[in-house]
Amino acid sequence: MTKKVLICSAKLSLLIFLLSIFVTSSQSKRGNLKETELTVYFQNRPSGPKATSVAIAGIPGQDWTYGKFGTAFATDATMTEGFDRKTAEIGRGQGMFLTSAKDGTSLTLLLSIVFTDKEYKGSTLQIQGADHQFENPREVAVVGGTGQFRSARGYATFESFRVSKSHVVSRCNVTIEHY
Ligand SMILES: *[C@@H]1O[C@H](CO)[C@@H](O)[C@H](O)[C@H]1NC(C)=O
Repeated sequence: MTKKVLICSAKLSLLIFLLSIFVTSSQSKRGNLKETELTVYFQNRPSGPKATSVAIAGIPGQDWTYGKFGTAFATDATMTEGFDRKTAEIGRGQGMFLTSAKDGTSLTLLLSIVFTDKEYKGSTLQIQGADHQFENPREVAVVGGTGQFRSARGYATFESFRVSKSHVVSRCNVTIEHY
């Protein structure tokens, strides 16, 4: 073999060695994934002066309602530990949604679950995707997280319970894998 070929093959084996380190370390990181399941409750007021969701944009000259294509809402709802609104507040559900199906049946939801108290205080989860708003339960993707939920991936189910005309509780079960 010539000198050039020898150097070349030495470089190649170094590259393979480095690649194998990379592959092993990324595999061991994947092995550290944890699975977490949790249930939280959102206390919603659909309308009125203390509404938890407010229409912020829509098609000019048309009604800005949940079922109307093209309507965007900002939302900020109290998140509690239990179904009852008197149970401990552990965070907020903050974000926006857009009625994105022409027939009004589905929203695109962008929701941050911001934990402000108890076990997960300071961590967040990011929920994003199609939300078939009139189905019960419905499922939306969890696409990320921070703090204790770094690199979170999974899904969340939402089930709505109408307690009264002005009070709707949404139960949200989250199943995620994260570091
Ligand atoms: C959510 O979790 C509760 C238990 O915490 C369970 O009773 C309920 O069936 C779950 N909902 C869905 C849609 O999986």
